Amino acid sequence: MSWEMVDEGWGRRAAEFATLSEPAQCREYVAMHHRLAVGGGDRLLDMACGSGLALELAGIRGATCAGIDASPRLIAIARDRSPDADIRVGDMEDLPWADESFDIVTSFRGIWGTTPAAVDEAHRVLAPDGRLGITVWGNVGKSPGAWMMQPFQWATDDKIRHQADMVALGRPGVGEAFLVDRGFDVAERFEIPFSFEYPDPETYARGLAATGPAYEAIESIGEDDFVARATELARSQVRDGLPLRGTIEVFGYVGTKR
Ligand SMILES: C[S@@+](CC[C@H](N)C(=O)[O-])C[C@H]1O[C@@H](n2cnc3c(N)ncnc32)[C@H](O)[C@@H]1O
Repeated sequence: MSWEMVDEGWGRRAAEFATLSEPAQCREYVAMHHRLAVGGGDRLLDMACGSGLALELAGIRGATCAGIDASPRLIAIARDRSPDADIRVGDMEDLPWADESFDIVTSFRGIWGTTPAAVDEAHRVLAPDGRLGITVWGNVGKSPGAWMMQPFQWATDDKIRHQADMVALGRPGVGEAFLVDRGFDVAERFEIPFSFEYPDPETYARGLAATGPAYEAIESIGEDDFVARATELARSQVRDGLPLRGTIEVFGYVGTKR
């Protein structure tokens, strides 16, 4: 699939993604920014930045921020949130920045085993000794919050196999080897805090339906059916007085450009 097609799934409910789903990911962003010691004076690029909450948080820490994503509708939100940042629509496998433009490159579940060219591009735009921080899905199926991502399995078998390829970097040793082969010195993978939270089953279903992988299921079963089935799934998880919460295994890698 060409990168221009990505907006079809990721952009169709951009405002709902940005306000219902993305905020829960702040734990992940804060943990990685802390690990990378993001601070004043850092030139930071976020690849596959989506609607830009991670960028906004890096800006609050004092970094000078840039971002890129394939979805124009997500990028419109990222620009609205961080008007001073250099945020572009484009392909992370062909970055529109010069060599050695950044001190830090991040990507939150945006770089996969299927996108080695994106890591080569991250390497190219990093200054010598620049830091790369990426997060990847771990074993989603064995995570306590696995039920929350179960609706993604309502896609066709082909799409589900592709989703599995995309999470390959979470396996022990695989992500480290992938980054070492592409010119980074890499520390061991570490766990990243990651939990989705929604106030009720209806909001969960809407938030989930706004994501790219949900669109793959929606193409199979239709949006009404997707939302109805996801709402029903979440009803069994309601806890009195508490939000729906699903913790998913996510790993982080930090590398330094050799
Ligand atoms: C799993 S989402 C992660 C988004 C964001 N990092 C976050 O934390 O919410 C994957 C993102 O990758 C973007 N994407 C997919 N292929 C891309 C490509 N070739 N170049 C740039 N962005 C891409 C999608 O538009 C989507 O925003």
